[in-house]
Amino acid sequence: MQSRQPTQATQPRHRVQPMHSAQPRQPTIATENQVATLPITPALPAVATLPITPAPPATATLPITPALPDTDVEPTTPTESSPVGAGSGRASVLVTGSASQQRGRRGDPGAGHTGLAMTPPAEPLMPAELGALLPRPRREVAPGAVHLPDWLDGDEQRRLVEACREWGRPRASGEPGMRATRLPSGGVMSVRTVCLGWHWRPYRYSRTVDDGDGGPVLPFPRWLAELGRRAVAEAYRDRAAGAAYEPDIALVNYYDEQAKMGLHQDKDERSPDPVVSLSLGDSCVFRFGNTEHRNRPWADVELCSGDLFVFGGPSRLAYHGVPRTRPGTGDPAIGLRAGRLNITLRVSGLGA
Ligand code: SIN
Ligand code: MN
Repeated sequence: MQSRQPTQATQPRHRVQPMHSAQPRQPTIATENQVATLPITPALPAVATLPITPAPPATATLPITPALPDTDVEPTTPTESSPVGAGSGRASVLVTGSASQQRGRRGDPGAGHTGLAMTPPAEPLMPAELGALLPRPRREVAPGAVHLPDWLDGDEQRRLVEACREWGRPRASGEPGMRATRLPSGGVMSVRTVCLGWHWRPYRYSRTVDDGDGGPVLPFPRWLAELGRRAVAEAYRDRAAGAAYEPDIALVNYYDEQAKMGLHQDKDERSPDPVVSLSLGDSCVFRFGNTEHRNRPWADVELCSGDLFVFGGPSRLAYHGVPRTRPGTGDPAIGLRAGRLNITLRVSGLGA
């Protein structure tokens, strides 16, 4: 995420696309899921806290449920280093919907692909629904920033949701797993986060969950790095760039209906290698701005479940954020009953 006060020499150097070799990992934690494919895990236990159950306990700490404690408040006061409200400006670009979203909002009769062919909608379509009917080609939103709609198929999405659920589980130590991050300003982020590889808290990375139980961060699995390599190769149509991509950080964010993320730069990493973003569940408006400031110009891109967005090169430090999600647009078949998950892969450049 964003930083003006790196504490572990995390100030990024503005190099252009250097390639990194694999970083050694902490031997104590790098033991799980070290396979080259997405994990195929058995059916979830009934106690899963992702929203496949109607009423998770109030103490559930993997807050992937529509009924969360509303203790988190999106910071509204812009500070130099904290996220800010994304503002209410109109989108300069709006790309909405996807083939997988053509069903429209769940429960909207007639918004589905075939439904529209048969039955005209009773009321005018809102822009998001209208957009859902349009093809979504791959698009370079800005130099080095590429959107690949529907990049993950349904099985891949389900496996990723399953993996997120595992990563977000509470731990025996009392560490809640996925939880809201407290900002230095005193505000609490409205998204819930769990980290792999390196733990992020404003505005630095560490190998331990320093604002939690102090225990080791979850390992970054090899299969996820492999997915990142494929993402970079396909986004940039550059096999060599993909092969050289060595992500060692994943930030897994969960957005409930209210959650949003203010415009910020991802600049706590020391590497200028691209950020790979994967979206699951509800669609959102992803605001992708410029590298100078939080004001226009920006593009509003509709990110739907399964979409890939990669930003690197001249766009690596572009301000970006999520001013809103679109509750009810996700497909429960991927295992996420409500809300949106986003996984960003990054290269720390911090060494082992
Ligand atoms: C992030 O900026 O770290 C997350 C963006 C997203 O949720 O799409
Ligand atoms: Mn970010």
